[in-house]
Amino acid sequence: MSNELSNKTALVTGSTAGIGAAAATLLASRGAAVVVTGRDPERGASVVKEIVASGGSARFVAADLGDLDSIAALAREVGGVDILVNNAAIFPGGALLDQDVESFEAAFDLNVRAPYFLTAAIVPGMVERGGGSIVNISTMAARVGMAGLSAYSATKAAIESFTRTWAVELGGSGIRVNTVAPGPTRTDMVMAAMGEEGAAMVAGTTILGRLALPEEIAEVIAFLASDASSYLTGATIAADAGRTAI
Ligand SMILES: NC(=O)c1ccc[n+]([C@@H]2O[C@H](COP(=O)([O-])OP(=O)(O)OC[C@H]3O[C@@H](n4cnc5c(N)ncnc54)[C@H](OP(=O)(O)O)[C@@H]3O)[C@@H](O)[C@H]2O)c1
Repeated sequence: MSNELSNKTALVTGSTAGIGAAAATLLASRGAAVVVTGRDPERGASVVKEIVASGGSARFVAADLGDLDSIAALAREVGGVDILVNNAAIFPGGALLDQDVESFEAAFDLNVRAPYFLTAAIVPGMVERGGGSIVNISTMAARVGMAGLSAYSATKAAIESFTRTWAVELGGSGIRVNTVAPGPTRTDMVMAAMGEEGAAMVAGTTILGRLALPEEIAEVIAFLASDASSYLTGATIAADAGRTAI
């Protein structure tokens, strides 16, 4: 435990699993009071339990971010926030000729509309508190063409664009906005979509040649969330083992 983030409240979307759970755990270990959110109360309770058992502070608030009323209810329930991590997303694999409309729309609802309106609901409270840090989660696939990922990649290109515009709009209020763009990371989402073999193939296209652990991506999120990154805003950090440097 450190106290770098004590007196800060952090809301991490999609923190019942994967990268979000690792980020919530790390932020809590640095002293933040963390709001864990997702749809699944059992997984939420288990993340909260682990954080509390390690001496951190966390609570779970259920929300389905595909639904605008649920987004508004989450923002009301959480109240003031200093750190917002827009992490929840789905991964609708599908080539141009195969993509169905339902999963296309679901991805834009969760990956683009949700962070947009959740951030809009959270920012007035940040302004009242005198500032804050917003960390958006993208993917390396927003910058390299990967077959079968055009809808998903486009949702993430949108969030990288939000980052730049919100940085301009909110900088004067002391709010920094940055993006982490991870490479292939060992989480349920990726393993379910790609399997061991598919994930290993994508990992093999990176310079370091391996999958990330969720904890390695969480370190970059925590850096952007904290004052250690006080001179960064509007930036996208590639945490992708060098894939987009090739
Ligand atoms: N893993 C990778 O290789 C990788 C690579 C690049 C970028 N990313 C990005 O990293 C982020 C996290 O990915 P991950 O791999 O950790 O995903 P994950 O393991 O599938 O976790 C996704 C999280 O989002 C939540 N979620 C899904 N649908 C939701 C909804 N309708 N409302 C509220 N919450 C919802 C899930 O919680 P519930 O099920 O409880 O709702 C879960 O906590 C995403 O933005 C992803 O695009 C991941």
